Amino acid sequence: MKLTVRPAGPVRGSVRAPGDKSISHRAALLAAVAEGRSRIEGFLQCEDCLHTADALRALGAHVDPIGTDTLEVHGGGLASLRRPSGPLEMGNSGTGMRLLMGLVAGRPFHVTFTGDDSLSRRPMDRIAEPLRLMGADVEGQGERLTPPVTVSGGSLRGITYETPMASAQVKSAVLLAGLSAEGETTVIEPAASRDHTERMLAAMGAQIEVDGLRVTLTPGAPLQATSMQVPADISSAAFLLGAALIAEGSDVLALDVLLNPTRTGLLEALEQMGAQIEIGETREIAGEPVGSVRAQFGALQAAEIGGDLIPRLIDEVPLLTVLATQAEGTTVIRDAQELRVKESDRLSAMAGVLTAMGADITERQDGLEIIGPTPLHGAEVDSLGDHRVAMSAAVAGLVADGETIITGAECIATSYPTFVRDLQGLGAERVEEKDDQ
Ligand code: S3P
Repeated sequence: MKLTVRPAGPVRGSVRAPGDKSISHRAALLAAVAEGRSRIEGFLQCEDCLHTADALRALGAHVDPIGTDTLEVHGGGLASLRRPSGPLEMGNSGTGMRLLMGLVAGRPFHVTFTGDDSLSRRPMDRIAEPLRLMGADVEGQGERLTPPVTVSGGSLRGITYETPMASAQVKSAVLLAGLSAEGETTVIEPAASRDHTERMLAAMGAQIEVDGLRVTLTPGAPLQATSMQVPADISSAAFLLGAALIAEGSDVLALDVLLNPTRTGLLEALEQMGAQIEIGETREIAGEPVGSVRAQFGALQAAEIGGDLIPRLIDEVPLLTVLATQAEGTTVIRDAQELRVKESDRLSAMAGVLTAMGADITERQDGLEIIGPTPLHGAEVDSLGDHRVAMSAAVAGLVADGETIITGAECIATSYPTFVRDLQGLGAERVEEKDDQ
């Protein structure tokens, strides 16, 4: 599918982006090994999360969609997980695969995980290393253990593990394996990554202690089923807010946005850029802070973004590069080499997309330099099968001269199936999906 985007003036109005992807994965997964019936409202029905739900079903859990955004899960405890009859196909979802690898590592059977072309290039050695230290066997392809990967689980022992990179997927996989290990499991991170697993485990009755960058799980307490509402994904709302910041005359209010401090790095970067952002009063939903965020068009200045801020805005870097093309000065993004092992190499993908659209952007080994402001022009660009690259290109297209064509745009359904509809609802009516041919 192609997405064609033509500039159409301001985006205006209020919108609730769909449920948070990271929380939706975790809610389904933990509910499947909790005891009793859980109800997850606002569950994100995107391709990634649906792959996780299917995988949980194949492992024996009862996972039932109710309507378009609720999931009911009947869990029977960790011991209820069964050997699946075939490989678990995880599509594009690194989070689904990595978290499930941790969850099944303590079960006495083999599970093979497969993925699409993009996921089949992503390294699983970062998960294999701690799981092997805990006593599981993990096999994959080549040096970096890319999928298909097979986890042969069994009795695990708790470990203390220092993650080489700030990764919530690695941290979560180790903690989930720790649920069925003998003794405590501690994970120490070099910088804070998203902490939804810790929050949800605590809310469901697990014994978990957080001390700065150190998390310790003591296994034994059964997880209790829960009912929760999933807040709107800040990583999806970001595209609508970003469009408002650069399309003249825009004013967008995003509702119920997840404002967990491990996810709000983008808002801090935008503050540095002088963006007109207002954050409403925060309240709690499902143990997570949530509030509205308003973005208005205005002048932007360049910023330097790196260090501990990077893990807190890791998925928003592609969008930030687009905003930087419209900011005055040189924006420098550094310490962001993890972006090279996402759904695509996002540093090179965004350099390619924005260069084709007339931006002044230079790729560095660990980041990007963007000199702005530059007028963008429409071009035909390839999403490289990466949802966040496709949506970032669409936002750039809203302020580019002429028509922007994004090929391979079906990948947007990976995380944000209603993206085009939501943009159109804010007035960007010249964004259209077209079948290939
Ligand atoms: C995620 C963690 C991040 C993020 C991804 C979702 C999660 O990945 O980029 O989109 O839900 O745990 P890493 O753990 O590789 O940093």
